[in-house]
Amino acid sequence: MPEIASREHEKHLVMIVEKALYRADVPKKNLDAIAVTRGPGLMGTLLTGVSFASGLSEGLKVPCLGIDHMEAHIFANFIAYPELNYPFLSLLVSGGHTQIWKVNGFGNYELLGETRDDAAGEAFDKGARILGLDYPGGPSIEKAAAGGDESSVTFPQAFQKSDNIEFSFSGLKTALLNYVRKEGDVAIRQNLADIAASYQAAIIDILLKKLRLAADQTGIRTAVIGGGVAANQKMREEAEATLDDCTVLYPDSNLCTDNAAMVAFVGELYLKFSSERSRDLAVIPNLRLADQ
Ligand code: KG4
Ligand code: ZN
Repeated sequence: MPEIASREHEKHLVMIVEKALYRADVPKKNLDAIAVTRGPGLMGTLLTGVSFASGLSEGLKVPCLGIDHMEAHIFANFIAYPELNYPFLSLLVSGGHTQIWKVNGFGNYELLGETRDDAAGEAFDKGARILGLDYPGGPSIEKAAAGGDESSVTFPQAFQKSDNIEFSFSGLKTALLNYVRKEGDVAIRQNLADIAASYQAAIIDILLKKLRLAADQTGIRTAVIGGGVAANQKMREEAEATLDDCTVLYPDSNLCTDNAAMVAFVGELYLKFSSERSRDLAVIPNLRLADQ
């Protein structure tokens, strides 16, 4: 509910910033700049953040840097692995995105492929709703799937045989809906772990097959995974098996889902290497990395 999300941002923003500065033991006057997400995301929440950050930066007389939060998801990996070398592949999997990028350097990205419809996180969220599980769906499905047999239900995996790096998750969601309608509530409750495990495996399998394809097509042997879905433990384990000849990296779980540390980190890179692009503070809900 976008309207409620904006109001909650307004309500909590000042307190959260104060608390973060207090915990970090950094007085406001020591800040070099304020980095803020200007997209992609919900218009209202982005506007709240950008307005707040602009006001704060003006008051403190420091630059305000507009950041693409998907770029921040890619670079969250450098927080954990400062020695990461270019080029590398990046699988970006969140509530709104499913993309594979070739990252040649800071600000130099090639989109290798993306989803045609739903994002992987959206598939988790919609699947959880169909199964009567809580939002956000990713952690709920992961928890429900523990101990389940992932081969118990065969769900479709779009484009699994194609040599293109592209995804589609809307058919998977419909297949789950049809399955639930056919089997009925009681059977679903009894076999929840098996169904959740099979559904989760269908999402993870296709993500990793396409990352494997990207590694084979480009010859690049380092892959990072970022975005909320990268918090999935099962995907982390499978990634190492599917890409056994590659180095696969992912940030700590709390740096996978949306967080301010990764935005501050990219802000620091802009401060160091180029401030041009980050001067734009226009809020763009569907900001695209390649278009910049
Ligand atoms: O990056 P993020 O926090 O926000 C967006 O930019 O969208 O990603 C949120 C998405 C949600 O769809 C959520 O269900 C999914 O990440 N997610 C997970 C897990 N934790 C969060 N998906 C699978 N397994 C998880 N453990
Ligand atoms: Zn995100």
